[in-house]
Amino acid sequence: MYIPHAQRYQQMEYRRCGNSGLKLPALSLGLWHNFGEVDPLEKCRTILRTAFDHGITHFDLANNYGRPAGSAEEKIGTILDKDFRDHRDELIISTKAGYTMWEGPYGDWGSKKYLVSSLDQSLRRMKLEYVDIFYHHRPDPETPLEETMSTLDLVVRQGKALYIGISNYPARQTQKAVDLLKQLGTPCLIHQPKYSLFERWVEKGLLDVLGNEGVGCIPFSPLAQGLLTNKYLHGIPPDSRAARHLGNGAMEESSVTESQLLKVRQLNELATRRGQSLAQFSLAWILKDPRITSVLIGASKPEQITDSIKCLENYQFSKEELNRVEEILSEP
Ligand SMILES: NC(=O)c1ccc[n+]([C@@H]2O[C@H](COP(=O)([O-])OP(=O)(O)OC[C@H]3O[C@@H](n4cnc5c(N)ncnc54)[C@H](OP(=O)(O)O)[C@@H]3O)[C@@H](O)[C@H]2O)c1
Repeated sequence: MYIPHAQRYQQMEYRRCGNSGLKLPALSLGLWHNFGEVDPLEKCRTILRTAFDHGITHFDLANNYGRPAGSAEEKIGTILDKDFRDHRDELIISTKAGYTMWEGPYGDWGSKKYLVSSLDQSLRRMKLEYVDIFYHHRPDPETPLEETMSTLDLVVRQGKALYIGISNYPARQTQKAVDLLKQLGTPCLIHQPKYSLFERWVEKGLLDVLGNEGVGCIPFSPLAQGLLTNKYLHGIPPDSRAARHLGNGAMEESSVTESQLLKVRQLNELATRRGQSLAQFSLAWILKDPRITSVLIGASKPEQITDSIKCLENYQFSKEELNRVEEILSEP
């Protein structure tokens, strides 16, 4: 029987999500990879227990996570039964819909038909009565934004989700979505964008919209899928995500370029001078901005969580350090 660590809430910082009543851990754990049907149950359990033992109360999913799609939700359903049912009220579980999930015109994008059906399926797979956060996973160029947003409002009114969020929406569309949701009476809790030292689009408008509107922000792939760690400093290890050919948007060997590695090595030197691992440095660099609620990490081993979490020991950066980061990143 699993007994969570008694000191778990003393180890974590909790940040308020925008103007809402909800606080999230400064680090959250995503189940995009490493939690599919093919991944051993006991390993998945250990990773989730390690996270919770360190105060990570937020697990992030989507309808299509895991191989095959949907299997990460099934796996967490099993693990909740085994380890966490008594702790449901201590957990924030999110899921999403927006990418291709089943055949035909109702298994993708942002219609009411797709979103309602998908959330019902997710709840069945996870054996949950409700999720804490339900996201629209990506903007739909065809469905009226009003339909998608009113569906997010609907699922909250139906009690199937407590809060709603959007993911991958650019700044202007985010503003429109936030305005619509305000009118509907279900405020947008959070935005989930891709953001890391290597992926900085959110700095060109999105973070300002979120800050002004009091919407939280939970960046995904903050370690650039592992590239912004010490993992690839000396080649591509066989057990790494890049070597495993996972598909479904996972990084490939070919995406690890020499020019990126040059930057990674220089960033690693800077991290070492601060007494941090590169993973800790990369996460701290995101968490320095108070508009960030939480960084959404992935992990293939429990030790990666215990390493990464130490980023909380120092997320202050001197002007010189920040300038050096810009110098390194602006190299060709
Ligand atoms: N909304 C969206 O469209 C979207 C898209 C993608 C992801 N997400 C969410 O974001 C979550 C995180 O994404 P991600 O997995 O790409 O995040 P990430 O944190 O950038 O990458 C995770 C990978 O980095 C490596 N790693 C992590 N900590 C490490 C450490 N301390 N030292 C060395 N290596 C370390 C591991 O790679 P190895 O596996 O090689 O060991 C791990 O699998 C997903 O699970 C999902 O919930 C959302």
